[in-house]
Amino acid sequence: MDKIVIKGGNPLNGTIPVSGSKNACLPLMTAALLTDQPVTLTNVPNLADMNTMGELLNSLGATVERDADTHRMTLRAERIRTPLAHYDIVRKMRASILVLGPMLARDGAGTVSLPGGCAIGARPVDLHLKGLEAMGAVLDLRDGYVHASVPRSLNGGRLRGVSFRFPVVSVGATENLLMAATLAKGTTRLVNAAQEPEITDLADCLISMGAQIEGAGTSTIEIQGVDALSGTEHAVIADRIELGSFMIAPAITGGDVTITGGKMFLVETLAEALRAADILVEETNAGIRVTRNNGSIKPVSFTTEPFPGFATDLQAQMMALMTIADGVSVIDENIFENRFMHAPELTRMGADIAVDGGRATVTGVSGLRGAPVMATDLRASISLLLAGLAAEGETSVSRVYHLDRGYERVEDKLRACGANIERIKDDA
Ligand code: UD1
Repeated sequence: MDKIVIKGGNPLNGTIPVSGSKNACLPLMTAALLTDQPVTLTNVPNLADMNTMGELLNSLGATVERDADTHRMTLRAERIRTPLAHYDIVRKMRASILVLGPMLARDGAGTVSLPGGCAIGARPVDLHLKGLEAMGAVLDLRDGYVHASVPRSLNGGRLRGVSFRFPVVSVGATENLLMAATLAKGTTRLVNAAQEPEITDLADCLISMGAQIEGAGTSTIEIQGVDALSGTEHAVIADRIELGSFMIAPAITGGDVTITGGKMFLVETLAEALRAADILVEETNAGIRVTRNNGSIKPVSFTTEPFPGFATDLQAQMMALMTIADGVSVIDENIFENRFMHAPELTRMGADIAVDGGRATVTGVSGLRGAPVMATDLRASISLLLAGLAAEGETSVSRVYHLDRGYERVEDKLRACGANIERIKDDA
């Protein structure tokens, strides 16, 4: 397995381009199942998850043409030949559940393996299922699979529009129901819906395919079902989590970096937190500029929340920064249980972190020391990289396949700004 080795201590200076959003691209790819016409996506990131989703769509009968150099992808689902998302793919990527809403909406049938637990918590899919059930789907959970169908007696096998209130905000369930509702008969109201920019991006794409959607980006989304959707071409929005991770890089090492291709509205809450830590953050014509001139970092306490609150996907990175702040910060993780697995790894590098349930208390230390550490999930892995950039001596991060799920050419991007970082290939 590959490792990333960093010799810490270099300040970062320069520009880093941000890629298209992985979390926006995944549902956009599944939206192609809603039409028999081609859907072309541009600004597609070159990431392992895009390959996995491509493989899944292929297995259902869609074709996926991809040009990594131009970041273009064309998906064609003339028909859904095999409406079955197999366990072998679903276990690799939980977002596979996002094919269920489109399959039910298009053909009134679909079978998807239940994803099971994952490293950062139980992450159930009950809300996806409850919502689809409310729209008239009949579900049968057996052999680790959910077998879903719409009875012929219901609008000839077509989902119905409903008013559905999410008991907790869920990005994935909002996406699944939004897609399902586009082809349902009647009007669907999604209440307490997720407001993440990825939802707005998906809605924009669906609208360009002919869907009738109002309110995406607010907590109530209204969808008037239509009979059919057409193909489209759509540019994937910038990855706000990659953007935020790179904003934290010059904050932790010192230096002056502009991250190009992203917009401030995507990372407003993080920018506020960084400013509270005494880091300079500004939006320029080129992108987001972050500067720290070796001043001390003030401690900042924060709580993860659905958008526009502090993103859980940036919690680990901000914790890495807080390990060298001048005082104590308290971090409350409100979205996922068990999402502090980076804490013991950061502790191996000299950080002082006490975890109690969903709360981590971080007492800043004067500096981190390099150490061999292990990535446990996607966002934990980038936090260890960031810590390694600031640490004295050498840090080697193993299990970087987690990192490769969400960050395109991360070591190249950081090296271009002066980081001493390399990937050691393990061909064994
Ligand atoms: C998405 C993102 C992920 C991010 C998360 C929260 C993608 C591919 N992934 O994940 O990077 O960390 O949003 O911003 O976009 N829940 C239930 N039942 C459900 C669904 C969710 O109880 O049926 C709970 C989850 O366990 C969690 C909370 O709701 O506690 C939020 O999860 P959700 O927003 O659904 O996350 P994902 O869509 O899986």
